[in-house]
Amino acid sequence: MERTNIAIVGLGTVGSGVAKLLLDHGDRTARHAGRTLWLKKAVVRDLAKPREIDLPAGVATDSLDDVINDPEISVVAQLIGGLEPARSIMLKLLESGKDIVTANKALLAEHGPELFTRARELGRSIAFEASVAGGIPIIANISQCLSANQICSLEGILNGTSNFIVTQMDEKGASYNDVVRKAQELGYAEADPAMDVDGTDAAQKLAILSHLAFGATVNWSEIPRIGIDGLDPDDLRYSRQLGYRIKLLALANLADDGLELSVAPTLVRIGTPLAEVRDAFNAIRVVGDAVGPVFYHGLGAGQMPTASAVVADLIDTAVGRTRLTFQTLEYFSIGQPPRAKLRD
Ligand code: NAP
Ligand code: HSE
Repeated sequence: MERTNIAIVGLGTVGSGVAKLLLDHGDRTARHAGRTLWLKKAVVRDLAKPREIDLPAGVATDSLDDVINDPEISVVAQLIGGLEPARSIMLKLLESGKDIVTANKALLAEHGPELFTRARELGRSIAFEASVAGGIPIIANISQCLSANQICSLEGILNGTSNFIVTQMDEKGASYNDVVRKAQELGYAEADPAMDVDGTDAAQKLAILSHLAFGATVNWSEIPRIGIDGLDPDDLRYSRQLGYRIKLLALANLADDGLELSVAPTLVRIGTPLAEVRDAFNAIRVVGDAVGPVFYHGLGAGQMPTASAVVADLIDTAVGRTRLTFQTLEYFSIGQPPRAKLRD
């Protein structure tokens, strides 16, 4: 059977999950790709650091050059977080002829147009299903399955850590600081959990989805946002008494005068689908003019759900099915600042 040689850069929570799927379930990738996805290298910062996965001899390296200079490696899962050195590493990999798969939404939200322009110039691809909503295939759905539609609106729970925190505080009476720690232990949180709880991560994901859904190049930092970091346990208690749960909702609505975007804790009536999304689950309701409303629900953070999306992208890339790109289109004005909303 033919082989596509893969490298992973960044062997943390997600990278280790991807390595597990590639090493333990090669039969699945072979079945779907018609070829073996062979993990040839995994680039780490510190070779001596204990890892949760035993790699075959010779796979781990602390030199990116071992990937860049290996013409047999054609696809790289770039799984380090943050902006730098992630951006420079991605550019180097593209320039050395590698196709990229990434889960790094912060990088795409900040430098997407630059990276995708460079990838196009070099004839390379960047696949990023795992960058929004973890295991939910929302990128493929919006860009491919719903492409006959004008998307009218998107609303969703896009940050698993915030939803986990709010659920545990609301249903178990857990303390905010304890649940943040638990979210870190479970591998849900960003390296800096402030990005989760202050609404940054959800705004970055909303910017990516808005680009795909509406053709808008959105500067994520201009999206009005409020996180869950200011919530008081009493807010949750009183909301419940009134028949609502508080959810960190990301909203995008195509209005006559532009795109209205916001991220904010929102009262959602108990019993409605978004109110029942618990722990690290995410959900997105998309309304298209032809299809009507479609609802997606699944684990939005965590090792294996995210690895599931990364490996699907590796398979698509290996067989040449990746066609998703960012384009620099018109810039929609961003509408109203977030305000308390009562939803029925
Ligand atoms: P993580 O556990 O912190 O892993 C990141 C890894 O990158 C660490 O092992 C780190 O090494 C390594 N690294 C950093 N700089 C490096 C360099 N220069 N060379 C080689 N390795 C380097 O983070 P994660 O949770 O796996 O997340 C990775 C990316 O996926 C982030 O962009 C995140 O936003 C995104 N994502 C995460 C999830 C999730 O549920 N965790 C879901 C979707 C998307 P050290 O071990 O030495 O620190
Ligand atoms: N920290 C992110 C979250 C990981 O909690 O949703 C998934 O993107």
